[in-house]
Amino acid sequence: MTDPQSWSFETRQIHAGTSPDPTTGARALPIYATTSYQFRDTQHAADLFALAELGNIYTRIMNPTQDALEQRVASLEGGVAALAVASGQAAETLSLLNVAEAGSHVVASASLYGGTYNLLHHSLPKLGVEVSFVEDPDDPENWQRLVRENTKAFYGESIGNPKGDVLDIATVAEVAHRNGVPLIVDNTIATPYLVRPLEHGADVVVHSATKYLGGHGTAIAGVIVDGGRFDWTQGRFPGFTTPDPTYHGVVYADLGAPAYALKARVQLLRDLGPAISPFNAWLVVQGIETLSLRMERHVANAQRVAEFLEAHDEVESVHYAGLPSSPWHAAQQRYAPKGAGAVLAFEIRGGVEAGRRFVEGLELHSHVANIGDVRSLVIHPASTTHSQLTPEEQLTTGVTPGLVRLAAGLEGIEDILADLEAGFRAAKGA
Ligand SMILES: Cc1ncc(COP(=O)(O)O)c(C=O)c1O
Repeated sequence: MTDPQSWSFETRQIHAGTSPDPTTGARALPIYATTSYQFRDTQHAADLFALAELGNIYTRIMNPTQDALEQRVASLEGGVAALAVASGQAAETLSLLNVAEAGSHVVASASLYGGTYNLLHHSLPKLGVEVSFVEDPDDPENWQRLVRENTKAFYGESIGNPKGDVLDIATVAEVAHRNGVPLIVDNTIATPYLVRPLEHGADVVVHSATKYLGGHGTAIAGVIVDGGRFDWTQGRFPGFTTPDPTYHGVVYADLGAPAYALKARVQLLRDLGPAISPFNAWLVVQGIETLSLRMERHVANAQRVAEFLEAHDEVESVHYAGLPSSPWHAAQQRYAPKGAGAVLAFEIRGGVEAGRRFVEGLELHSHVANIGDVRSLVIHPASTTHSQLTPEEQLTTGVTPGLVRLAAGLEGIEDILADLEAGFRAAKGA
């Protein structure tokens, strides 16, 4: 039989992790709306609970629709296993708590989505996990300088939201590995169609599947992908090398390649509980089946929008790595040769007030706090997505007062550009 991993990306986005339903013949993925699963007998139940046999127990930790999503994203990212959870934020949280605990330390790029910055800067420290931010993540020395005895992970976004910077994954992974820690990469904006961080040395990938994987603005979801190559027995990760009393002394590092994904599922998802609903898992699988087609169109539209903005008199600067003028253009060509994604940001002439009038003058663009929808979206990050950050923190994450963020949708490009032109007219008070 053909090894599914030898199939093209386009084939795997449709077939990986699913086959016709053995009972009904249903060809599309069913939504398994069940909380629990009938055990064959008491021994079967006991084996499942002891991890002596892997199988469905309870939908808080696993479900067949969720399993299809996990296998599909693992296949597309080139990982050994994945864990789907309730949101991108949950994916980030579990990915870090799987390696860090009270007394631990994490080094993270400062160029992050505002919600991630909040998690790392405020909530994780309340749990005793300290985070140091790399102000200029392009220089590997800046990562090295922040490493401590108790550092447990490096963290960054493959394409930063909203700054559009491209992480030098191979170099940062090399610094992480030199220090015995894994590199966790948020691949939300790029998707595995544009960037596959594991192929460049990252160890774990996280996604807000709410965005381009789902793709239609209909479901909140998150995924963690285990690259399966990191050696957890190097001494820094007792959670992987000491027995877990809740599973009769299981030692996760002894379980082979998917130890990280398995531990996140059976400890963290079990105890913290951010389970994905089977319906949302299904919506994301449905979205993934057209991922490559949508990303090609998203990228083509975003590139045209970026070029239009760069040539516009009312625009001071554009942040999009697909433009040759971007400081991250070379990194984009190396890591994301098919395109720089569809999130772009620009500084409008006239600052905050012009930015507000611009947003209000748009008709086709929806004014929402999201990216990765078929619809073109717009937002003013300083007063919304990043408003819970101080002005200094906003600048750290790449958000200036007059910055406008666009997420290019799949509409006709002429309609998108005409709408933006109307926005500029409104910004000038015309
Ligand atoms: C890059 C990135 N990561 C993570 C998240 C959080 O994902 P979710 O909203 O699904 O919790 C977002 C949300 O905007 C994001 O843009």
